[in-house]
Amino acid sequence: MKLGNQSTLFDLPAGVVYMNCAAQGPAPIAARDAGRRAVDRKARPWEPERLNLAAEMTRSRELFAGFIGADASDIALTGATSYAMAVAAANLRIEPGRTVVMLEAQFPSNYYVWRRAAARDGGRVVIVPRPADGNWTAAVLERLGADTGLVALPQAHWVDGGLLDLVPIADAAHAVGAALVIDATQSIGAQPFDVGRIDPDFVACSALQVAAVARPERLSVRRASSPPRRADRAQSRHPHR
Ligand SMILES: Cc1ncc(COP(=O)(O)O)c(C=O)c1O
Repeated sequence: MKLGNQSTLFDLPAGVVYMNCAAQGPAPIAARDAGRRAVDRKARPWEPERLNLAAEMTRSRELFAGFIGADASDIALTGATSYAMAVAAANLRIEPGRTVVMLEAQFPSNYYVWRRAAARDGGRVVIVPRPADGNWTAAVLERLGADTGLVALPQAHWVDGGLLDLVPIADAAHAVGAALVIDATQSIGAQPFDVGRIDPDFVACSALQVAAVARPERLSVRRASSPPRRADRAQSRHPHR
């Protein structure tokens, strides 16, 4: 997809070249103005402007759903990716002895909660070391197997921008009935993400690094309220086998 020059959408003075969007993307002018309106609203909660809030949240959910091929009803707004992951961890169980697979130097919001969930459920953490050839997808696939209980990954590694191809990873996880949780911060809006094809249990994304966000909220997707038991789960994902 070619976007063309979008600089007029940002408050970018002549001569400024800003490249650190991986740490903090500049809010577009429209997002800045929406934020200012939101602060004004808090100062005058009796004014009718406040009544727009619910409709705006619904619109945010619809817009975000459009990025990943979901429905607005799949999307929940949370305070941060770490909060969304805590919700996911409260709704998923790791079978005793099974593994939680994550990457070396994975972002903390998608790491500590799973380490804790593994300890809670009697699971084991497996860290995929940074591959010398940069191929994270192959490195993850090598470590998925019958003992995998949960796979918690990013789509793009926040340290080096390395991309993971989530389609074969999702297929391998589903084949063994493992839960799949994705932190898509740093990639949604810039990389294709087809929630129907990948079929994750949860996706979380902090909007501050999404190139095209309309509002600076963090968003998350919840696909399943409670995971089916392992055997049912592999079966329901592959009903023709
Ligand atoms: C990969 C990744 N996930 C999540 C976040 C933000 O997480 P949280 O919203 O929990 O602060 C960042 C911020 O840099 C990130 O790079």
